[in-house]
Amino acid sequence: MKKSINTILKHTAKDKTNRSANPAVVRASTILFDSMQEIKAHEKKILKNQKITHYTYGRHGSQTTIELENIIKELEQAYHVFLTGTGFGGISLALMSLCRPGDEILVSDNVYGPTREITEDLLREFNIIAKFYNPEKFEDLKNKITKKTKMILVENPGSNTFEFQDLSKIIKLAKNKNILTLLDNTWGTALYLKPLKIGFDISFCSATKYLSGHSDAMGGTLSVNKKVFKKIMFFYKLSGYRMSADEAYLIIRGLRTLDVRLKLHQENTKKVINFLSRQKKIKEVLYPHKPSSKNYKLWKKYYSGATGLLSVVIKSKKKSSILKFVNSLELFGIGYSWGGFESLALFQELNKSTEYTKGRTFYRFNKDEYIIRLHIGLEDPNDLIADLKNSLKYIK
Ligand SMILES: Cc1ncc(COP(=O)(O)O)c(C=O)c1O
Repeated sequence: MKKSINTILKHTAKDKTNRSANPAVVRASTILFDSMQEIKAHEKKILKNQKITHYTYGRHGSQTTIELENIIKELEQAYHVFLTGTGFGGISLALMSLCRPGDEILVSDNVYGPTREITEDLLREFNIIAKFYNPEKFEDLKNKITKKTKMILVENPGSNTFEFQDLSKIIKLAKNKNILTLLDNTWGTALYLKPLKIGFDISFCSATKYLSGHSDAMGGTLSVNKKVFKKIMFFYKLSGYRMSADEAYLIIRGLRTLDVRLKLHQENTKKVINFLSRQKKIKEVLYPHKPSSKNYKLWKKYYSGATGLLSVVIKSKKKSSILKFVNSLELFGIGYSWGGFESLALFQELNKSTEYTKGRTFYRFNKDEYIIRLHIGLEDPNDLIADLKNSLKYIK
């Protein structure tokens, strides 16, 4: 019987040996074999991406991480899935596996701050040059391709500013020029967009966000096609990047309800946005919620749903009053990350280089305009609206 992914998320990863509905948490460094020949034969199986239930050494994972790999494989329709201890580990795994001195890499200007930093600063030390392209101008991307371009790294939608790009156009261009492509799909998750299906070589998702969904685990999933499997496997085995069995268990538990949670994040977000977009103090809501919103068409072309992360643009002559708005929110926590059950707010200064992020090249704020990123959680949306209403009064 062909099953929907929502059913698969509930019915995989059972522990038949212990008759449990959930997998065992297998913590292992040494994995025991019956003979030397069996170890060697098993190593070959892993390198050929054959179905396995255990690795040959705990550095590569355990039964629990393999259960998670299998679920993500279904979700992403991937050839193989590499799991890392944090989301960012997944980004660096892809870059370190595939880019070499002399290569260039094209990166959308609106990527997550640390992705900009690793590509712009760290890779430069290895003579790998990152060039940033304007995510709203396909021609800019096209013009920046050279014979040295190894990879195009896209984040969709853009971090904090939520630009959506025409992904198939990028894929077509990249395939013509034999350039690898990677999509950071953390916002939509593979439930709402399957990057490998539209032709990306690598689909990345920070499992710290919606996949785990409970703000208590970190991880990354790097889902790949056959073309890049061998190179990434080579680096993966030597790098020591790996997810623990405990984190894998928590992410599997989160995945059971991914569809239900995302649906509610989406519903709550629409209700909150209905309120926000009627407020005079909010200049714009950056989210593809109605046909007239910026990028709605591009979102609709590729995604089957939207999640709970958005930004609002606020115009104010007093920056301190914006900070007061954020600080006064009672139900929105102030902190990094998102994708958990709870609502969060963050004041973002995108053009400035800070200790953590480098400023952007293309994005320009109008005078007196600021961006606040909001994550709409699973609370009662009426309470969230009341909280926002109460704090908006501080904006001058
Ligand atoms: C879009 C995006 N990609 C990657 C990451 C990195 O993930 P992690 O925090 O799990 O390392 C983040 C984290 O905020 C993110 O927002």
